[in-house]
Amino acid sequence: MEIQILQLPIEVDRASSLSLQHQLMIKIRELILQRQLEPGRRLPSSRDLSSQLAVSRNTVIFAYDRLVSEGYLEVRERAGIFVSPHIPEKSLRIINARSHPETRAPLPSARILPMRNRSPLLYQRLRERLELDFRIGRPANDCFPKRLWTKLLVEKMGGSARRLTEYGNPSGLEELRVAIGEHLKVARGINAHPDQILIVAGSEEGLNIVAKILSPPGSTVYSENPCYKGVPYVFESYGATVVPIPVDEEGLCVDALLGKERGLVCVTPSHQFPVGVTMSLNRRLRLLDWADSNGTYIVEDDYDGDFRYDGSPLTALAGLDRSGSVIYVGTFSKSLGAGLRIGYLVVPEELVGAAREAKALLNNGNPWLEQAVLAEFIGSGGFERHLRKIRHTYLQRRNALLEQLRLRFGDVEISGEAAGMHLAWHLSDDRPDARTIQYQCLHRGVGVYSIDDSPAIDLSNAGLGKKMLFFGYACLTESEIVSAMDRLEKAALSLA
Ligand SMILES: Cc1ncc(COP(=O)(O)O)c(C=O)c1O
Repeated sequence: MEIQILQLPIEVDRASSLSLQHQLMIKIRELILQRQLEPGRRLPSSRDLSSQLAVSRNTVIFAYDRLVSEGYLEVRERAGIFVSPHIPEKSLRIINARSHPETRAPLPSARILPMRNRSPLLYQRLRERLELDFRIGRPANDCFPKRLWTKLLVEKMGGSARRLTEYGNPSGLEELRVAIGEHLKVARGINAHPDQILIVAGSEEGLNIVAKILSPPGSTVYSENPCYKGVPYVFESYGATVVPIPVDEEGLCVDALLGKERGLVCVTPSHQFPVGVTMSLNRRLRLLDWADSNGTYIVEDDYDGDFRYDGSPLTALAGLDRSGSVIYVGTFSKSLGAGLRIGYLVVPEELVGAAREAKALLNNGNPWLEQAVLAEFIGSGGFERHLRKIRHTYLQRRNALLEQLRLRFGDVEISGEAAGMHLAWHLSDDRPDARTIQYQCLHRGVGVYSIDDSPAIDLSNAGLGKKMLFFGYACLTESEIVSAMDRLEKAALSLA
């Protein structure tokens, strides 16, 4: 009687990556441990439970079998399946302690990293609601070279057992470092020995390695302002003080560094993040001079240096460096995709040993398979072809965006359009703030970004980005750009 009416308060999640049988097993175990199913209690038959949950009977049988073998349930001949009366009190107490914190010794509290009281995940939450998203730094996923990548993956997997079972060089796969070195020579004017190149899990890990080896607690780091959030978040987490240095239309104001104490300098010369200006040659040379005479290093984050639309790409700061002052941070997050988590550092010779040790300490090197595929992709000319193709696509998307902005809003002031994958619209005084427009657009399913909800930050908290609205255009097709701008225009009209 009782068996028939017992409904277990369980739901399964069909979208979960966990199998239904595992979900069921875990949920029944929880009910037992939390005493919602008491010892000796009879459970529904596998047939009844399978129809209650609309899952197959085998799913229930599997879950029951596991719980029997772990001692949570027992089978009684011709009577059915029951919660074991012998579950150790101790396991019950462990679970119950959660609801009775006074019975538990306090755990050490997690160290909250500084991150200026912001969550790096905020940005991620917003994006889930957007249909047409101009999120900064997002490459076109319709352009990912899926076919060639798959072919190379399959090829590399064949006979790869040795490479997959053994540790590799923490600095990264030799073939990949050679291929990147060759690419940098041509594309960025950088002459680096493969030993100076270190494969990392994205620029973010690159910055962490730089901070580990060069930025002890109490040290000073100068950063462009505004800048990429990763700079203060990473360096402050190692105990450094990050000092903002203004940026104008020629890039970092090097004069503002004069007379300051020694410290690392972080810059994005190719396409200042987020404003988008390019550092002038004069400023580049003066910055190199300053670093050389102060005995310090410059961190050049060249996150989207592969994209320049007006003329050929400029020589990187690292390509002009004659005194070993520049640490170059490169990434494939923009040219291929952030999901790959592959970037690289090019470090001056003096730092090779320290950087390699820091990388070994972190994770002993990147996974072999993706490195091998990427090495072949670059070495065989696939990367260069891919870059040519996406440069063209991004140029068209940029043009569509500029045209739409001008068509709908007149003589708009724009920065950053000559390079990269995003640009900034500097809103005139008669227009609302960027944040207000951003939220109006959000309701219409369009993501445009104020500085606060972008990967950028104004270190001075002086409202620098209040009137800057950012558009990452690479990931939207031209027709999507037109629809998005339709909605943006309506949002702007509703605010007029
Ligand atoms: C300026 C800048 N640097 C670095 C990164 C991080 O790149 P990665 O994915 O290689 O960690 C980003 C990401 O948006 C960025 O905008």
